[in-house]
Amino acid sequence: MNISIIGTGYVGLVTGVGLAEKGHRVICVDTDGSKVDSINRGVPPIFEKDLEGMLERLVKEEKLEATMDTANAVKNSQVTFICVGTPSSEDGSIDTSYVERASQDIAEALMETGEYHVVCVKSTVVPGTTEGLVLPIMEEAGLEMGKDMGLGMNPEFLREGVALDDFMNPDRIVIGGADDRSKSVLREIYQDFESPIVVTDIKTAEMIKYVSNALLATKISFANEMSRICEKIGADVYGVMDGVGLDSRIERKFLNAGVGFGGSCFPKDVMALIHFCRWQGVNPRILEAVIKVNEHQPIHAVNMLEDMLGRLSGKRIAILGLAFKADTDDVRESRAIPMAQELLRRGARVVGYDPMAGKNFSGEVSNVELAGSVEEALTGSHGCLIQTDWEEFRSLGEKDFMVMSTPVVLDGRRVLNPEGFDKVRYRTIGR
Ligand code: UGA
Repeated sequence: MNISIIGTGYVGLVTGVGLAEKGHRVICVDTDGSKVDSINRGVPPIFEKDLEGMLERLVKEEKLEATMDTANAVKNSQVTFICVGTPSSEDGSIDTSYVERASQDIAEALMETGEYHVVCVKSTVVPGTTEGLVLPIMEEAGLEMGKDMGLGMNPEFLREGVALDDFMNPDRIVIGGADDRSKSVLREIYQDFESPIVVTDIKTAEMIKYVSNALLATKISFANEMSRICEKIGADVYGVMDGVGLDSRIERKFLNAGVGFGGSCFPKDVMALIHFCRWQGVNPRILEAVIKVNEHQPIHAVNMLEDMLGRLSGKRIAILGLAFKADTDDVRESRAIPMAQELLRRGARVVGYDPMAGKNFSGEVSNVELAGSVEEALTGSHGCLIQTDWEEFRSLGEKDFMVMSTPVVLDGRRVLNPEGFDKVRYRTIGR
């Protein structure tokens, strides 16, 4: 099938590459000329494992190209995926202006072609957006649903760092369609995938995306709350969750206590769902608690460190890991941000180190010094907070911490093996 994709950010590019790899012909559209040029040279504008080589090959084989011309892309395809960003507004709701703009461009192009075309939203949008915003734009332009066009919603479940693999081998594919014809066109796109396909209505598809992320975030905050009790009574929350997670109704994944969840998805999506619930007159008690627990975890980590070190004022504290998780340079909503702010507020001198995200972090919190290595960050520090579960940190042993002024370590992600630590004072969340 010929497919156009509006927006070549993370989701758009991975979707484009994945669909082209499955044999479709893909045209990616972006308003940013430098991104378009870069894609046409086979160089991904974002970093994601395996993307580079695959994109280069697909461009060479003429299975994927990029353009700034939406009309041309739409006219030369049967389906268009909207993959533009839906950033958070001040109040936590999502800003749908890019979706609106993309819909207008698609509608204009479709009015000229006169051929049946399916418009499918992949951007994360609150329930009701596809039928309440995208469809009216099409109809106002003069297109008739079912006759001139079909409508769908096909959420993404991609994790940064393993996005391409998540796309090619998903746990499930969710297709929401306005009618049978839209559903069957979208189904055809995924016919070569072995994963289960859920075909449903559009609002249910929109909701599946939010509920998935909200439930995963809830598991993390739940584990974090349980970790606090474990710390009080001398139990180990990781051992507890190992035991609990063996129940197949629960499952062990996403029950790792630590300094909380960050990234561009969980905090934003939970906030958007909270906002949406309130707007619908539903009190989001659980979701509010999920956010509250998450906001407190980095502060709790700082409290634990202060408990070990005494007053933090004037002390040099190293934060190891600035990215929101390992294997990415993304610092959006990273727990290192509130952690650094809290340390600075208490008068500490903060030094940060990350194997990949240092540059991105530099604009986030002023007055944080950046170190070029673990050793540089630790040398002369009075305390160390581990914020990201980078592989590089797992191999740190007691001697690595001996360059500190006082070897005091708070492990916020359970990365170290403290067995045999004799001179290092070590504590971790949830034990
Ligand atoms: C998340 C979801 O996992 C994807 O399925 C979803 O498609 C994506 O959001 C999205 O909505 O686009 P991502 O944000 O890339 O993916 O990262 P995750 O690997 O899910 O981690 C999120 C955060 O939770 C990280 O800060 C991580 O350290 C934290 N986390 C994760 C925990 O604190 N404990 C855990 O047990 C697991």
